[in-house]
Order: sequence, then C-alpha cells, then structure tokens
Amino acid sequence: MCGIVGYIGYREAYPIIIKGLHRLEYRGYDSAGVALNDDEHGLQVFKKAGKVSDLEDHVNGAEYLKSTSGIGHTRWATHGEPSDRNSHPHLSGNGKLSIIHNGIIENYASIKETLLAKGHVFKSDTDTEVLIHFIEDIQRNTGKSLQEAVRLALNRVVGAYAIVIANADQPDELIAARKGSPMVIGVGEGEYFIASDATPIVEYTQNVIYLNDNEIAYIKRDDLLVKNIDNTIQEPYIQELELKLEMLEKGGYDHFMMKEIYEQPRSIRDCMRGRIYPQKGLVQLGGIKDYADKLKNIDRIIIVACGTSWHAGLVGEYLIEEYARVPVEVEYASEFRYRNPIITDKDLVIAISQSGETADTMAAIELAKERGATIFGICNVVGASIPRLTHAGVYTHAGPEIGVASTKAFTAQVTILTLIAFYVAQQRGTITEAKLVEYLTELDSIPALVEQTLKANEQIKIIAERFKDSANCLFLGRGSSFPVALEGALKLKEISYIHAEGYPAAEMKHGPIALIDADMPVVFIATQNSSYEKVISNIQEVKARGGHVIAIVSEGDTTVKDMAEYVVEIPQTAEAFVPLLATIPLQLLAYHIAVMRGCNVDQPRNLAKSVTVE
Ligand code: F6R
Repeated sequence: MCGIVGYIGYREAYPIIIKGLHRLEYRGYDSAGVALNDDEHGLQVFKKAGKVSDLEDHVNGAEYLKSTSGIGHTRWATHGEPSDRNSHPHLSGNGKLSIIHNGIIENYASIKETLLAKGHVFKSDTDTEVLIHFIEDIQRNTGKSLQEAVRLALNRVVGAYAIVIANADQPDELIAARKGSPMVIGVGEGEYFIASDATPIVEYTQNVIYLNDNEIAYIKRDDLLVKNIDNTIQEPYIQELELKLEMLEKGGYDHFMMKEIYEQPRSIRDCMRGRIYPQKGLVQLGGIKDYADKLKNIDRIIIVACGTSWHAGLVGEYLIEEYARVPVEVEYASEFRYRNPIITDKDLVIAISQSGETADTMAAIELAKERGATIFGICNVVGASIPRLTHAGVYTHAGPEIGVASTKAFTAQVTILTLIAFYVAQQRGTITEAKLVEYLTELDSIPALVEQTLKANEQIKIIAERFKDSANCLFLGRGSSFPVALEGALKLKEISYIHAEGYPAAEMKHGPIALIDADMPVVFIATQNSSYEKVISNIQEVKARGGHVIAIVSEGDTTVKDMAEYVVEIPQTAEAFVPLLATIPLQLLAYHIAVMRGCNVDQPRNLAKSVTVE
C-alpha cells in the first residue's frame, strides 16, 4: 500500500527521499509528499496529489532543499480521497511534528471526536492526521518528551501502522515505529535510512534491520535505540540484504512487467535450485524439513491467499491432491478470517503471498495459529511479516517484483507448490522414487521450456492487435488449467481494464455461454491432457455461437488448429507442469493489449502492490 521513506545523516535528504519514493511508487501512487527538517528552516512540507513526478514538479525551484533529515510518502488512499490535503506528511496542530504513515488506525474516529471536543482543527480526512494530533495532545497534557508521547499514543491506538515522525524542535532525530505494516532501517556510517521495504536503501547500504511489531526506533545520525512499546530496550538484529541494485532496474525493457515475464526461466530455476535432485528422485526443502514427520500425519491442507497467489493455491490443490493424496481446501484469506473455520492441530495451513504483507492473509494465519494448525508460508519478499508469522516456509526466490500485476511471482509460487506436493508425497510414501525421477527430470527442463514459450511473443502481439478493442473476454480451462484461466482473466482486466472472466470450461454452458456472440474473444487452454477431448467440445460450443476462439495448445496439435481463429503453441510437457507454461502467453497477451490501449501496465489504476489494509 503506501510507501514510506526517511533519511537522517550527512547527505542531502531530498534526493534520497525522492529516489526512494520512485522505487516505492509501485506500492501506491495517488499522491506523494516530503517533509524536510533542519535547525534553520524548521519543517518544510511539500505534497501533491498524483505521481512522485508531480511532487517533483511542485517542489521544483523551492528553497530549503538542503536539509540532511527528512521523510517522504507515496500514498494509496484509504481514508479520504486522493488530494493535496490528504497527502502525507501530515502536521500536528502546532506545526511542530510531521508524520508519514502506512496502515490504518482503526479507532481514529473516537480519538478524533475527543480531540475535536478539545478544539483540535483538522486539515485532512485522514486517520494519520488524527494520530499526530493525538501524540501532540498527549505531549502537551503530560509534559513528557515526544519519545514518551509517541509510545503512550501507540499503546492506545488500534490498527496497523508503520510511521515515521520528524520533530521541528529536534531535527537531529527521527522516530519510527511499526505494528502490522513493514519497516526496514538501513544502517550506514553516520546515517540511517528508513523505508517500507529495502528497495530505496539497497544502493546506500547492505546492512538492514527489520523492525518488529510493537517496536519503536529512536534514530539519530550516529545512534539508534530500539524499544518495545512497553518501554523495554531491544537489541536490533542487523542483517545483510540479498537484494542487488540491478534487480530494481528495467534492464532495457519498456516496463517492469515485461522484464519480469522474461525473467521467468531464471526465476523458476532459482526456485528449484538446491531443492530438487532429479537423478536421485529427491526433493529437499530446508525451510520445512523440521516438519517432515508431522507431514506424515496431517489430515488436511488449507491454502490461504489472495488474488494471483490464490490462483497459485488452486493449482497447488490439484498437484497436492494428485501426488500427496491429502485433501486440500483453497480459501480466500479475506473470507476465511471472518468465518468460524473448523481447524485442528492436524491441519497444515499454507499461506501464499508475494509481498508477505497482505493484511487478510496475515489475519488468516493468526486465526489458524490460534486454533492450533501448523503454518507454512510461501513468500517472495525475504524478511517480510508473513515469513515471520509462520512456523516454517519456503521462499520463492523470484527476486523483487515491481510490476503491480504479478507474473514471475505466480509461476514461482506454482513451482514451490509443485515441490511441496512432491515433498509431502515423499514423506507419506504416495509416490515412488522412479516416478519422482521421471517428474523431477521433466520439472528440471521447465525453465528451458518457458524460454521456448516466450518465443511466441511476436505472434501474441498480432493477436493483441486484433482484440485490443474488445469490451469483454472469456478465459476457459479445465483441471489445473482452470486456475490458469482465472489468472489470465485477472491479468487482462487489471492492466487493460477490459472486463474478463475465467471459468472452468464445462461451466460455460451453465451461464456464461449467454454472453457469447460475434464480439466475444474466448481464450481456451486446450493442451493435450486428460480433458483435451472435453475442451474440444467446449470450443465447438463457442464456435457455434460465433465467438472468436484463441487457443493455447500443445506443440504439434492439429485438431484445435483447424477450429480456432488463433492458436499459440506451448511445448509438450507433463500435465502437472502445464500451468507453468500456459500462463506465459496469457501474461504476454494482457501486457500487449494494455500497452496498445495506452494503459500504465506497471501501475494500473486503483491498485497497489502490497495490500496492507483489509
Ligand atoms: C494481481 C496481484 C494481486 C496479488 C494479491 C495478493 O496481479 O498481484 O492479486 O496477488 O494482492 O498479494 P500477495 O501475493 O502479495 O499477498
């Protein structure tokens, strides 16, 4: 959601903050702002609705940009419309304190009511402004230091936050705190960097501290004190980043999304590295090995996730049930958390999240944990909140995903779920070593087959040109190609704003068939697997009603070629691995259509990369 950046040190803060905000813009991009702080000028706040570049235009030429301490924010609106006045940073009533915030203060309304009664005047509709007025109010009423007032206030707020506060009276200190929203502190020589994730920090230092929930950091140029919200001193753990700067650049592509689509041969390979041994028919997953025995006796696996990660979970359901013979349920985290689900200590919950920060997924984990389940995480962002909430887990190692529409994270998640399916099967003895040798050998060739699939790019551009003006599009598949259809539809709708639906192909005749006419493109995943013949019947049903068929087929297919308007061939592979290949043309189709329609593919409207509010 929102992105926050702070700097205190010996360099000019403004360029560091602006660069950091550009790096974090994928998290939210409806407004941005900075507050610079120094002895001479006090707090200088600049903020603007729109992109970080609009903020830069607004600031352009302003004086006072030389200060060596400041905070900045890129916003994804929750409370209050995107506007200049709702942009962060917000000021306290006396103008001495400035705050940036990622998260939601749930009890802001009651706090605001009390403050209004005391005469506080608010300039925005945000919960964040209420928080900084609250801190100021506590400071004034108790006569305590700002440090103490922040702590007392945070003890009374309900909700999630990552905040940084600058104080005009103490420009040599920033105060940062987190609960439920991510925060990383970069440790330099005589300087500290603060950010929602490590992307704004990596070019200055590799040493970082991931602040824990309920911790408050008091940060001076050459001193850092971390305390718990109950005032006990904490020993911060400094770790080295795995992230490299070049991972954050477009590397010659027009968009991050395209770069990330093309990275998939590498990212899938990295997911498997050191984890599969094809000749031995062995899968080793170090992150969950302590639970190997437990896996022999689980009754059920529940997968919780949102969006694209939920689609990956659906592919996982097919794989785990097929190979490990354990019943699997796949749940939207947002629904699961508010049901009264039946969970026992013989359940394994697998939470899937690219960002590792999705609020609903985190809440689902907490609930399942309270009820005794064992929780595994499948996450991409190392050190994020979800891997720290789970009992064990497997990182996807796909590298940073900057494009808001998830691509390489999806195929990485599917790869990890494939490995988990085989790993659980291994523990439970539901697969023979010979079969594992066969499957793992095939899986090992998938990165090369993805590479081959990407060669369809030019052909897909032609298809995109033909259908770019469509108002609707249907995606159909059966078996584990059904979640691929869902994912294809989600990609298209979120970046091109064309209405798209994914359906199990056989369900079409129970309703969606009514939509089919001469204006409707229908994308089929029609590879040669167990439901091939059935899908062919579904294609005929669409053709009979004048729909335009685009089919993803296995290499060498001739039957579908004669029926479809366009076919895109993917290499032959085992049925289990078709989702890893069939997804690629759908990502490319969505990408090209969105570019041709003039859409901002990396930052589609209204979306944010990590959804830290429910
Ligand atoms: C779609 C997309 C979203 C995310 C969803 C969950 O392209 O990216 O649907 O998959 O918001 O996010 P994570 O995986 O970070 O929990």
